[in-house]
Amino acid sequence: MTDTQAIVFDLYGTLYDVHSVAQQCDASFPGQGMRISEMWRQKQLEYTWLRSLMGRYVSFEQATHDALVYTCRHLNFELDEATCATLCDAYLNLSPYPEVPATLQRLNNLGLPLAILSNGSVFSIDSVVKNSGLQTHFANLLSVEPVVVFKPDPRVYTLACEALGLSSHQILFVSSNSWDAAGARHFGFKVCWVNRRNNAFDELGATPHVIVSGLDELPALIGTAQV
Ligand code: 2OP
Repeated sequence: MTDTQAIVFDLYGTLYDVHSVAQQCDASFPGQGMRISEMWRQKQLEYTWLRSLMGRYVSFEQATHDALVYTCRHLNFELDEATCATLCDAYLNLSPYPEVPATLQRLNNLGLPLAILSNGSVFSIDSVVKNSGLQTHFANLLSVEPVVVFKPDPRVYTLACEALGLSSHQILFVSSNSWDAAGARHFGFKVCWVNRRNNAFDELGATPHVIVSGLDELPALIGTAQV
């Protein structure tokens, strides 16, 4: 029998589709939206990891801005200040994946506290969640800001234990980012990997306890031996 006492979600790519910005990218650079969005996201992640390694934290918004500037320069697209601001702003208005609102409600009905633990700043997490109207579902919105380092640094995962007053094994951590799921598993969380696109899991010495292909599969698993 499980002793899961709370569920903690990653935000970008797990609850919210980062590639919902592709539409705005396409409006500014016709025909190039998804190409920009994919490189932008990859660079954004790399910049968070590299800045953590360098001990040179900047906010997630800054890393997102810098990744967009790099991406456009790499692709030889001219990025003026107004377009840059519009596209960075799109990251505050991401769309949740279609199954997310109803699934959060089903999980709320089970009575477990739900939280978000994200590399985002307090401002960006609050903005994304409020702009999508999903804030009432969450007991805690947790940013990396207090520890000024990004996931998968273990100090970030500790924030969830502290905020919820729980041990790592009492928390089910849910992420679509396999590097994040691996970091969370090494930390000691129970881990669910949301694999919507039939991807391969990263080779980082840790595997998730359970894999789902959409968040809507999660409520039925709560309370089972798996999680
Ligand atoms: C997060 O929300 C970046 O997806 C990662 O923390």
